[in-house]
Amino acid sequence: MTASLLDRVPVIPVVVVDDVEHAVPLALALVAGGLPVIELTLRTPVALAAIERIADQVPEILLGAGTVVAPEHAKDAAAAGAQFLVSPGSTPTLLQAMTDTGLPHLPGVATASEVLAALEAGYTELKFFPAEAAGGAPYLKSMHAPIAAARFCPTGGINPDNAASYLALKNVGCVGGSWITPADVLAARDWDRVTELATAASQ
Ligand code: 3PG
Repeated sequence: MTASLLDRVPVIPVVVVDDVEHAVPLALALVAGGLPVIELTLRTPVALAAIERIADQVPEILLGAGTVVAPEHAKDAAAAGAQFLVSPGSTPTLLQAMTDTGLPHLPGVATASEVLAALEAGYTELKFFPAEAAGGAPYLKSMHAPIAAARFCPTGGINPDNAASYLALKNVGCVGGSWITPADVLAARDWDRVTELATAASQ
């Protein structure tokens, strides 16, 4: 089921919500811009409440929880209404916790050995993180020849200038990034700007 996560939209918006009141209007702004997917990161005290609100009020968006770095995060995000989970790395305990939720999930990897371990655990769809710092598109391209079974959503340092270089790779289904929902735009409640950025990213 994770395969569908990589093929829905070219860009998954990675979002940090500081004010729970932003959750619903920003989700609606993404949908209006043609990106009906959100990875809401569990990095702020209001993240779970934001997930609950979006789950209740914006059913048309595919709602994911990101920054799942501990087993309880997976459980809490699922209880709040998340429909998929994303982690920046992979450990056996974390993979088990995400599997236990029954939700599709994208475990994070950054090296060939981590990709092979994920394949052994049954995953072919992975998050490549932190994409730019770990070697960028050339690094991921090099991964394809020896490990063709793995497909990726690279995230971390991706922006409108370098997204296309990743999306052109055979082993990339989509990219993830926070540039569609910059902190200053959210603080200003400029939902039209979010829609503009989403529209540009969706094309
Ligand atoms: C993530 O959690 O995937 C990253 O923090 C997103 O990276 P970016 O902010 O560089 O887009």
